[in-house]
Amino acid sequence: MTTTTILLSEAQIRDRIHTLAAEIERDYPEGEDIHLVGVLKGGFMFMADLVRAMTARVSMDFMALSSYGKGTTSSGQVMVLKDVDSSLEGRNVIIVEDIVDTGLTLHYLQDILKARAPRSVRTACLLSKPSRRKVDVQVDYIGFTIDDHFVVGYGLDYAEKYRNLPYIAVLGE
Ligand code: IMP
Ligand code: MG
Repeated sequence: MTTTTILLSEAQIRDRIHTLAAEIERDYPEGEDIHLVGVLKGGFMFMADLVRAMTARVSMDFMALSSYGKGTTSSGQVMVLKDVDSSLEGRNVIIVEDIVDTGLTLHYLQDILKARAPRSVRTACLLSKPSRRKVDVQVDYIGFTIDDHFVVGYGLDYAEKYRNLPYIAVLGE
């Protein structure tokens, strides 16, 4: 039987996201719209809580990428499974990701979105594992920096399970 140990509680996540949302809104001049691009599936819960902590000037869209394929290590070969529905031209885009591990997926995504003539592109990630980084990638807003654990919950999965946990946990025996 697999057990999970809570690393970040619901309350910790909620508080941090409220602080992040306020920080993000402070960074963009009043009157400027903010377009959030959520990365499916892992980023869905973070996106849902982040937008509810923000004001009405926010719009959103989603992308789906395949990053790991069937293995457990990032190859850097990323495929766009679902693209955004509307143009990013002239918009203040913020990529909303669950976790930055090696950074390969995000690095690739930033490159393709920057090529679409947005006004700006920034990145918000709930979690970052800096000790695993293979490429130097800019993350403007980080919820929590964590050690090298494989974590699940709050959108993150192991073999498509545990995404629905309302907290972040480390998988055990
Ligand atoms: P990267 O390209 O190595 O940065 O991989 C990023 C993607 O791998 C994330 O968006 C997640 O989908 C997945 N991933 C990386 N670390 C974890 C983890 O600890 N738990 C669950 N998924 C992870
Ligand atoms: Mg992801």
